[in-house]
Amino acid sequence: MTTRADRVTIRLARAGDLEELSLLRSELRREERAVALDPTDEEGGKVRALTRRQLAGPQQVFFVAVSEDAMIGMVRCALWSSPDGGSVATLTTAYVRPAHRRRGIMRQLVEAATTWSQERGASDLRLRNHVSNSAAGAVWESLGFEVVQVVRRRTLPR
Ligand SMILES: CC(C)(COP(=O)(O)OP(=O)(O)OC[C@H]1O[C@@H](n2cnc3c(N)ncnc32)[C@H](O)[C@@H]1OP(=O)(O)O)[C@@H](O)C(=O)NCCC(=O)NCCS
Repeated sequence: MTTRADRVTIRLARAGDLEELSLLRSELRREERAVALDPTDEEGGKVRALTRRQLAGPQQVFFVAVSEDAMIGMVRCALWSSPDGGSVATLTTAYVRPAHRRRGIMRQLVEAATTWSQERGASDLRLRNHVSNSAAGAVWESLGFEVVQVVRRRTLPR
């Protein structure tokens, strides 16, 4: 699946994309550290191992945005069975490099993930984002994702 707009190609990631995908994931982790509920700060080897596993895993794909041979954005889409026997798709690892933001790249990546999920019978797309990441919240609202659950936390004294 390949679409072109503004010289950006949206396509499924393949095994040979491992290094570039891992690099993007490390960039995402660095940005997330400030806002994540459970921040992870894994070194490159762990990021690469996780990405390799997910690239090869069943029922999941990465869509990537490529511009002039450089990878500039990604989103992972994974299918799982819901308790009622249906199928649901989850988006994770959503990232667009800062210089390419606000040009509709995540919108195109989500559209590709939507088609992929619909073709596999998924009833809906889900994702999690931290409330302090207000930019991400605005993006997901704009892309049609409503809030259906809230995670509450009370920090315990040590
Ligand atoms: C969130 C992120 C993936 C958005 O990527 P993007 O390619 O810039 O998003 P798009 O250009 O496709 O924008 C989609 C919609 O969100 C809106 N939007 C984008 N960035 C926004 C911002 N910072 N504030 C408010 N709205 C924003 C756009 O206006 C667009 O809506 P429109 O088409 O109706 O105008 C990108 O900012 C990013 O990588 N951020 C850091 C990592 C992150 O927070 N990931 C998400 C974790 S849950």
